[in-house]
Amino acid sequence: MKILVCAFVVGLLSLASSQDKTSSPKVEVYSKLPGEYGKVNTLICHVTDFHPPEIKIELLRNRQAIPGAMQTDLAFEASWHYHLTKHVPFTPQPGDTFSCNVTHVGISKIYTWEPDM
Ligand SMILES: *[C@@H]1O[C@H](CO)[C@@H](O)[C@H](O)[C@H]1NC(C)=O
Repeated sequence: MKILVCAFVVGLLSLASSQDKTSSPKVEVYSKLPGEYGKVNTLICHVTDFHPPEIKIELLRNRQAIPGAMQTDLAFEASWHYHLTKHVPFTPQPGDTFSCNVTHVGISKIYTWEPDM
């Protein structure tokens, strides 16, 4: 019971202290393995430091959403900034562009994967 009450108070505090602060997400797009054409890999979009917690992340191949992407649970740090990771299996092919579309407080930005190949 004590723990429950504590969690509730902490929740309230976080609501109260964070209401009017907006911070834009920092986004990193990378792959699990070095990029290699025709080789199965995992595309990862790591989004940190954003507030409020509502966010939409899409992984794109040639500007089309890649279905079946998985998202981690929303997590937060001591500063009440949130972070999330979204990932999907993919196989890069010559000419393909992979990117991450992050929409936060109504603003969408595209971050493109730099394959280093
Ligand atoms: C990015 O996501 C936003 C919100 O869903 C959408 O309106 C926009 O068309 C998307 N951009 C691309 C290139 O898919």
